[in-house]
Amino acid sequence: MNFLITAGPTREPLDPVRYLSNRSSGKMGYALAEAALELGHAVTLISGPVALKAPDVAVLHRIETAQQMWETMQHLIATAPPDIAICTAAVADYRPKFPQFQKIKKDTEALTLELERTPDILGSMRSLFGYKGLLIGFAAETENFIPNAQSKLQRKGCDLIIANDVSRTDIGFDSESNQVTLCYADGRLEELPKLSKRELAIIIIQRCQK
Ligand code: PMT
Repeated sequence: MNFLITAGPTREPLDPVRYLSNRSSGKMGYALAEAALELGHAVTLISGPVALKAPDVAVLHRIETAQQMWETMQHLIATAPPDIAICTAAVADYRPKFPQFQKIKKDTEALTLELERTPDILGSMRSLFGYKGLLIGFAAETENFIPNAQSKLQRKGCDLIIANDVSRTDIGFDSESNQVTLCYADGRLEELPKLSKRELAIIIIQRCQK
């Protein structure tokens, strides 16, 4: 099967030297890409800026911003739609509305930034890109994990959403391990124990194969 996986953070420029981003290391997304390869699948990876060695995927698209990830995804869904898409990336939800072409000078005591929403890549897959394959998202939550994840699953037309508690420092962002609950479209929940991201990735890819 063909997998298309997004990984890592996006960076939303404020000026030529500053950006808004988040703590995603790319480890979860890269582990999924490696697990899919190990289980004999073809993988295309869209990656935000990370410090990881690129896995041996068929195609690697490196992007910086949410807009670039959105455009790359739209192009791939139109030209080479995968059997399974997994959106692991921690896409910035907001970006500076007026990024500056020159470095912002610190000549005022305070600075107010106006932010605007970035495009919702996972949320565009069904409604705008017309994607028909298996669609898997992650839900990074700090409270009400399962209801919040289930609501994202419905809003974004996913078959499976992976609820991830990102309030803990031993799992989630930039850690070696993760602990998640798989929330299926039919309402079933599968709670998994704390595992290395590699072990967890193998289980997730196996669930996709069913
Ligand atoms: O990279 P690591 O350090 O290994 O950390 C892994 C992780 C914590 C980033 C990962 O396990 C995870 O939870 N990824 C989802 C992060 C996220 O942005 O969650 P969210 O609940 O804000 O978004 C819900 C879903 O919509 C996600 O599938 C996200 O990729 C997608 N999204 C969000 C915003 C946006 N503008 N476009 C999107 O496609």
